Amino acid sequence: DNSGMLSNPSAAVSKQVRSAGESVVSLWDSDEPVSRAELLKGVAGAHGLLCLLSDKIDTEVLDAAGPNLKVISTLSVGFDHMAMDEIKKRGVRVGYTPDVLTDATAELTVALLLATARRLPEGVVEVINGGWSTWKPLWLCGYGLSGSTVGVIGLGRIGMAIARRLKPFGVKKLLYSGRTDKSYAAEVEGEYVPLDTLVSESDFVVVSCALTPDTQGLCNKQFFCKMKNTAVFINTSRGAVVNQEDLYRALSSGQIACAGLDVTTPEPLPTDHPLLTLKNCVVLPHIGSATYSTRGIMAELSANNLLAGLQGTDMPSELKF
Ligand code: NDP
Ligand code: DGY
Repeated sequence: DNSGMLSNPSAAVSKQVRSAGESVVSLWDSDEPVSRAELLKGVAGAHGLLCLLSDKIDTEVLDAAGPNLKVISTLSVGFDHMAMDEIKKRGVRVGYTPDVLTDATAELTVALLLATARRLPEGVVEVINGGWSTWKPLWLCGYGLSGSTVGVIGLGRIGMAIARRLKPFGVKKLLYSGRTDKSYAAEVEGEYVPLDTLVSESDFVVVSCALTPDTQGLCNKQFFCKMKNTAVFINTSRGAVVNQEDLYRALSSGQIACAGLDVTTPEPLPTDHPLLTLKNCVVLPHIGSATYSTRGIMAELSANNLLAGLQGTDMPSELKF
């Protein structure tokens, strides 16, 4: 007879868990994040926890849950919000949602890249504000993918899906960096290069790596200084991979051309943040995986991961760490 604490899931998740005969379900039934106090209270004694990437799962939460806890299922592929060492020490299994959000996130990355490079948000504002006087040869010109060099930092599931989508735009050279060379990169004629080479040679630098101690602050002053003045920087991984003060300086000084971010530190980015004053910076509110169908599939998968963890069976997507 297992109990589970559900943090902010869809009704479908809750129904699925209940219909599987799990007797006590504590549900945070709101689209707003659960407060820390509610999470700590609700998780006490739970056998399972379904959480979001906005829930920090640290020692305090694990202690509050206590020794009953068998499984944590996160509605995300990223797991940088969870204290993995502590979780491992306690023998708790972890479920996550890889693959099912890859296409949606890659698609959003391409949309953000094009919107940033071709200055779509600026153009829309000019139309609304009456700044559109006539057709002018150099007005609102940007950068195109045709004949370009694209560099992908972290050619994992999403990085590869981004590369596959960008190639048909006429990308001439596809560079990637990471910890290891990938045989599957051949499909996109990807060239494994040192990070410095990628940064200095790319017209578009796309960040799609996981946030780890090694990648935290990876995109800093030295990084931006190596980029071309005409280069476009895109980040759809995690905000903390970027030093935002250094990015602000690079954008405002013309060190790089423009940036598109789907992820920031913190989230939400305060409305008075300096990055939001820049025309050459496009910021989205972490919507990489936000299609109706993807979020539905993520909810179902995370419910099934939770159930398998509670029942001690194979999880559809278990994180091995
Ligand atoms: P994968 O694990 O498939 O890919 C992660 C990649 O990160 C790997 O290829 C890995 O390269 C790379 N990486 C790890 N360490 C380093 C490093 N030190 N330097 C460079 N690259 C490194 O994960 P996914 O592709 O499925 O997801 C990637 C990330 O995207 C998630 O962790 C999440 O943070 C983010 N994400 C954001 C979304 C959004 O809404 N914006 C939606 C979904 C995911 P290697 O194999 O060589 O180590
Ligand atoms: C993830 O899954 O890690 C994303 O950031 C949200 O889908």
